[in-house]
This record gives sequence, C-alpha cells and structure tokens, in this order.
Amino acid sequence: MTETLAQRRVLLVIGGGIAAYKALDLIRRLRERGASVCPVLTAGAQEFVTPLAAAALAGERAHTNLFDRASEAEIGHIKLARQADAVVVAPATANLMARMAGGHAADLATTVLLATTLPILIAPAMNVQMWAHPATRRNRAVLEGDGVRIVGPNAGRMAEPESGPGRMAEPNEIADALERMLGQQAGDRPLAGRRVLVTSGPTHEPIDPVRYIANRSSGRQGHAIAAAAAAAGAAVTLVSGPVALPDPPGVAVVRVETARQMLEAVEAALPADIAVFAAAVADWRPEQEAGSKKIKKDGTGPAPMPLVENPDILATIARLPVGRPPLVVGFAAETDTVVEHARAKIARKGCDLIVANDVSAEGGVMGGADNTVHLIRRDGAVETWPRLGKEEVARRLVAHVAGLLAG
Ligand code: C5P
Repeated sequence: MTETLAQRRVLLVIGGGIAAYKALDLIRRLRERGASVCPVLTAGAQEFVTPLAAAALAGERAHTNLFDRASEAEIGHIKLARQADAVVVAPATANLMARMAGGHAADLATTVLLATTLPILIAPAMNVQMWAHPATRRNRAVLEGDGVRIVGPNAGRMAEPESGPGRMAEPNEIADALERMLGQQAGDRPLAGRRVLVTSGPTHEPIDPVRYIANRSSGRQGHAIAAAAAAAGAAVTLVSGPVALPDPPGVAVVRVETARQMLEAVEAALPADIAVFAAAVADWRPEQEAGSKKIKKDGTGPAPMPLVENPDILATIARLPVGRPPLVVGFAAETDTVVEHARAKIARKGCDLIVANDVSAEGGVMGGADNTVHLIRRDGAVETWPRLGKEEVARRLVAHVAGLLAG
C-alpha cells in the first residue's frame, strides 16, 4: 500500500556531500506531492548548499545549530524530532551513517536522529569504495536492524572518476520510497486521507443576555472521538458547543453556542467521509430571540416562555440529497430500553450507525469518565461493549467506522 504525502510533514536532514544539491531538488519534489519540509543541515552540508537555499525552497526556516537560542526557545531539537511524520536523511554520507549507527549526538542533525521515534529513511551517497567498505557495511546492517529504511544508492557516474554503487537515489525515487514507508505504517492510520466531522458538547440557547437553556453534556466523548480520528490519520473538524475542555491536538475546532450556529458550522465543514454527531444539541430554544436586555423579575411571576424546536442537525445531514457523508453516525442518550429506542432513532434520522448509551442517573455517563455503549447498525445488528473509558470508546469507534468505510 502506498500513501500520499499530502499533509505529511518531513524532517529532512541534509548531510555533507556533493549530492546535497540534489536534496534541494528533493525539497521541491516533496512539496509538489503536498508535504511540508523542515530542513536540518549538518555543518558539512553547509559546505555544499546554504541554509538560505534550503529555507527558500522549503518555505520555512532551515535548522543548523544544536545550541541555537532562538530555535531552542521556539521549538527545540526534541520538538523537531517529534513534530513530523517521518525523517529523511539525504544525502546520508558514510560519516553520518557511522554516527547514526553509533548513536552519536554531537550536532543538531545527529541529536534529532537519536531523539526521534519517527520512521527514518536514508538515501546514502558516497564514493564506491566507501560504500563497499566493511565498516560502512556494518553500519548499514546496524541501521537496518534499528528499523531504518534505505533507498539507493544507485550505480552510475559520480563526481569522482570511479563508477559503481554510491550515487544518491534520485529525488523522485526518494519521495516514492518515503510514500511506501509511510504506506506500510498506514495500518496504524486507517483514516489517513479521510475527512471526519465531529460535533461535541452541549448547545446554549439564550433566553436573554445572561440566561440560557443548556444540558449536562461535558463534550468529553465527542472530543475524544475527534482526537482518536486525528490520531488515526484523518483531517478532523470538530464543531463544539461551549465546553471546558482543551482543543484536541491536530484538530480544527469551530466553536459555536447555539444549535442553529452548530448546523451552519457543520454545513460549512462538509464534505466529509464520516460525520459523527456526538453533541447534545438542545431540542428546543426560546421562541423569542434574546434581546440585549435582561428579562426583569417584576413580582408577577415568570413571563411565559414559549419554546420552538431546534433544527435536527443529524437528521438534516443524514438526509442530504447531495453531499451526504458516506457514513453518518448518531448518538442516542437514553434512560431506558436503550437498544429499542436506538433502532427507532436510526429509522427516524436516516443515519447509518447509532452509538447508544444509558444516561440514567445510575450510569453516571453525563459528565463522567466512562461509558457503556451499544452500537446499532441500520441493518439492526447490535454490538455491546463493556464499560470503558471515553477515550477507549472513541478509539474503538474510530476503528469500527474505519472498518465500515473500508469494507
Ligand atoms: O433525538 P436525540 O436528541 O435523542 O438524538 C440524538 C442524536 O441526534 C445525537 O447524535 C445528536 O448529536 C443528534 N442531534 C442533532 N441535532 C439535534 C438533536 C439531536 O444533531 N437538534
């Protein structure tokens, strides 16, 4: 399975060899394929190409020093080692391979390589004799044993008069190898390349500038689903009502207050491959639009407050004639006969899957950390999961919907 480089971030370590000029072209090729590139140049690399050239092609600054005060304050080498999807070393010189195999961390490039847990692809480039040397062969075997992938070197004419293997793989070959490497990891990212929309939290329906109708939803389950979908590789938009939770990492969050704003934000976030409606949308709102003045208590008792029904966001999207996400998932919070109610809800709302949970007071689900859910499919099949943390429910749900979408 290959994987596109769109939206992927590549940390590119440029080693000090004549092939460094081809690393500049590699930056262009990776960007053409939709990746962003963070260049790191060794001191040797800077003898052949300038950080400025790498930065200009990458469209972001190039990193060179381990002890760069500006960079340490802003980003730091440990962050550099983490904030990407893969590390590519091109050219990987004999010296750089030896330092990698030995676990050296004397400069920024080797420190990043030692600190990273990301997949690493190296494109060796060196003199034929150096490539054939037993020391390089040993280092190569050590690196392969450590899980480092190698592309090239190719045989052919080199800067020196000798010919044979030692020439760095071409930039497009390196980009292809990177796609293959990331593709092999796509098992961990079953939603790579997919767009997922999640609603979460309650809505607030204003009565006047200070009062509103709301419910006890914390948003924990919806936010956990957005985080799990992002971890599975999806591009996630989370439309959230007012919650006291931090934004999940790697997720585009749109904050709204009312049901009508939530519907608008959801429509704006389409198209999506999967839409999960985990928000506890207020069913009703005051008919009278809230004005700018607080409603006064005048001693004659409360003024009547007629309510009107809010739009049903789930049903609206599940019944879209055009642009309906292929997989629409609803939630059902019930206090009794959970599964029967959920079956009826699937039919009423037109979604593909309902995640039903028991929110009776004994369950402690609303605002709590755990959830016991039943998955009810449109064809009537039911799957009941044990009581689980909301994060685990989210992970399992994401794996389940990824399977449905793939199958
Ligand atoms: O009808 P009920 O509120 O029980 O349905 C719950 C499901 O419908 C949840 O997925 C919820 O997010 C969604 N819903 C919605 N818009 C509403 C009411 C519920 O999207 N106005």
